[in-house]
Amino acid sequence: MVEIALFDRETILHAISPARAIELVRDGFIRFARGEWAMPPKSYLDAPPNGDFRAMPARGAGLAILKWVTSFPHNPARGLPVVDGVICVSDAETGAMRALADVQAVTALRTGAVAAVAAQELAREEARTAGIVGCGVHGSWAARCLAAAEYGPGVCYDPDPERAGSLAGELGWEAGSLDEALACDVVTCVTPGDEPVVTTGSLRGGMHLSMLGADAAGKAEAEVEAIARCAVFCDEWEQASHGGELTAAVEAGRIERDDVTELGAVMTGDAPGRPGDDAITLFDSTGLAIQDLALCLALVEDSARRARARTISL
Ligand SMILES: NC(=O)c1ccc[n+]([C@@H]2O[C@H](COP(=O)([O-])OP(=O)(O)OC[C@H]3O[C@@H](n4cnc5c(N)ncnc54)[C@H](O)[C@@H]3O)[C@@H](O)[C@H]2O)c1
Repeated sequence: MVEIALFDRETILHAISPARAIELVRDGFIRFARGEWAMPPKSYLDAPPNGDFRAMPARGAGLAILKWVTSFPHNPARGLPVVDGVICVSDAETGAMRALADVQAVTALRTGAVAAVAAQELAREEARTAGIVGCGVHGSWAARCLAAAEYGPGVCYDPDPERAGSLAGELGWEAGSLDEALACDVVTCVTPGDEPVVTTGSLRGGMHLSMLGADAAGKAEAEVEAIARCAVFCDEWEQASHGGELTAAVEAGRIERDDVTELGAVMTGDAPGRPGDDAITLFDSTGLAIQDLALCLALVEDSARRARARTISL
């Protein structure tokens, strides 16, 4: 008989706090950068006019996962989530199915966590204030993770004032204007990517920007010229150059491979991070399957520990 664990939303959010998600995602980036974990680029299946599906495989630490996930940015107007799907977790040695995990909870935690990891690696050491541009599902988790990493107080901006107000109230931060959010030390953008929210006029020496919303070709949260003026970092070059915030800048010839550093290389010490206190750092997150793998690994290990504890107590 095959036993497949089911990790639902409540189980995942109970098991993995924002602080733990940050450590897990940090570990995943390092193991991938060291070549210990494998991850082919994600594959997109367009579903016009509403969005796309992505198939995201990764293997490491004895597990192999496939994340089947949507981005339907305008679903909230229909009362549906932007992100939906499932993560299949298999044993990488035998191929046996081990678990199915709720995609929304894993995605929310690992996406939020990467905003905190990028800030820890790339922002100025004394950076504290956090601006959130776009306070929907993933903007809120980015804010929770930044707060867990001791960033804040922050300014939450969203064209929907209720969303900004509710997130600010939860964290004891303030709701404010776009300009106020962009004036913070660490700015995290998590909009649908329909229009640039970061322009050349928004840039200030010393700021750090994490761009999370533009995770497919055709989406952008920053003007190409603004990107070209920053010290640019990404989660993974193949994905970022074809399906992220950097795509338009690469296509326009404004940035090239040598202009962009992968975050994992900074974390392993193989590449320099922030060039100086006055630099403007910009991190493009397209979302990596290794981030999902890092969280699934913790869920599977927790569950194995609980099973052993039950066996011992009998
Ligand atoms: N990088 C990643 O790993 C990753 C992971 C998950 C989702 N995403 C992407 O993030 C984006 C947001 O996803 P979500 O699930 O949080 O969506 P959501 O609908 O829950 O939230 C989006 C928020 O952005 C706000 N918004 C819209 N236009 C804005 C603007 N011009 N300025 C500021 N705020 C604006 C909306 O009012 C809404 O509150 C999507 O494009 C999604 O594909 C990226």
